Amino acid sequence: MEHQDRTRAGYDGVVELYASLFAGRLEEQPFSRNMIGTFAELVRGSGNLRAADVGCGPGHLTAMLHELGLDAFGLDLSPAMVDHARRAHPKLRFDEARMEDLPVEDGALGGVLAHYSMIHTPPEHLPALLAEQARVVAPEGLLLTSFFATDGPEPVRFDHKVAPAYSWPVDLFVRQLADAGFATFARLIHDPASGRGFLDAHVLARRA
Ligand SMILES: C[S@@+](CC[C@H](N)C(=O)[O-])C[C@H]1O[C@@H](n2cnc3c(N)ncnc32)[C@H](O)[C@@H]1O
Repeated sequence: MEHQDRTRAGYDGVVELYASLFAGRLEEQPFSRNMIGTFAELVRGSGNLRAADVGCGPGHLTAMLHELGLDAFGLDLSPAMVDHARRAHPKLRFDEARMEDLPVEDGALGGVLAHYSMIHTPPEHLPALLAEQARVVAPEGLLLTSFFATDGPEPVRFDHKVAPAYSWPVDLFVRQLADAGFATFARLIHDPASGRGFLDAHVLARRA
């Protein structure tokens, strides 16, 4: 089974549980919330308000971007997640799509949010996703991506509850962003609970 199929099947099976656990959790996540607020402010400042929440899951962050003044829409490869997002946020647009092949014109977006949505992508496939995000973002457009980080030198595969996932050395991830054409200008590394064994990283980058 391809990794996307496994991820899709995994998320299709946990939609209600995932939404009940995470769709309201931003209240308790000041770091994510503030980075998303900063991202939205910068996208607004760019004058191009169109923004995609890629791997949007239940759609709560798409809704947050909308509340922050962006013309936001959500994309996800899990049909059950898209269905949930549409029901939870009927005024917003959500579509089924793979990050490998975004249904967006070249250079159309002021920003892309990829909040823990590339965590299930095996490291050798990450460049293709970042290249696709670079394709759809306008020059000077913004990318905010959040992921699990590690202090070690290499990405580490771990058994996430939904599907296998990877934590990344932040410098290595930033180099991958640079290779795709994104210049990182802010990074927040947060240790939510050291016992968990990894860090949360939030990286803001601008399309060259
Ligand atoms: C950990 S959840 C994050 C959801 C949401 N962004 C959040 O922060 O709560 C990962 C999401 O990314 C989606 N996803 C994973 N790989 C994807 C891909 N290749 N293309 C599109 N969506 C993908 C999954 O279906 C899932 O909804």
